[in-house]
Amino acid sequence: MIGFVWAEDDLGNIGINGHLPWKLPNDMKRFKDVTTGNTIVMGRKTYESFPNGPLPNRKNIVISRDSSYRVQKPALLVNTKQQLLDMITPDEQVMIIGGKTIFEMFKDNVDTLFVTKIHHSFDGDTKMIEINYNEFKLIEKKEGIMDDKNIYPYTFETFKRLTNV
Ligand SMILES: NC(=O)c1ccc[n+]([C@@H]2O[C@H](COP(=O)([O-])OP(=O)(O)OC[C@H]3O[C@@H](n4cnc5c(N)ncnc54)[C@H](OP(=O)(O)O)[C@@H]3O)[C@@H](O)[C@H]2O)c1
Repeated sequence: MIGFVWAEDDLGNIGINGHLPWKLPNDMKRFKDVTTGNTIVMGRKTYESFPNGPLPNRKNIVISRDSSYRVQKPALLVNTKQQLLDMITPDEQVMIIGGKTIFEMFKDNVDTLFVTKIHHSFDGDTKMIEINYNEFKLIEKKEGIMDDKNIYPYTFETFKRLTNV
């Protein structure tokens, strides 16, 4: 399984200045639930946005064109999409966690979408890629709970790619 995991605002923004445009702890929790125990694949810039290096309890794979780029152990570095595809097994749950360039790279391979839609507009400099939702079926939708730490309305949605039977 290859999944995309991301959060976007009403304008499709996903990032600004190398970070997320918002603070939404419940989305971080959802991200943790969806990715823990699985493989996460990220671009070099997204990797560098993590303050403490590789995320725990997940196999971290970082993509960079620079073969001399050093990632903190136990993260792994790959330089090409093919190298990544050669490294994963069919039963592995592979979660592509961004950013934009890496979503673009795997748009034809992805079969599951885990999106948090944040119903608000933020300043951003990085947008999510176009997704053709006609190729996917919504299988789960859950309204997010708002409180004093989660001040924006948001919805968790999961889609599965339709297969031609
Ligand atoms: N809202 C969300 O869910 C979410 C999720 C993830 C990220 N973000 C945000 O998105 C922003 C970062 O996204 P981004 O698109 O700018 O950067 P990115 O995808 O995280 O990283 C880009 C880097 O990936 C490597 N790369 C890209 N294409 C490659 C290829 N074909 N072959 C080998 N390596 C390749 C390059 O690394 P080198 O330059 O080292 O070669 C490139 O500079 C940040 O603001 C981050 O916080 C948001």
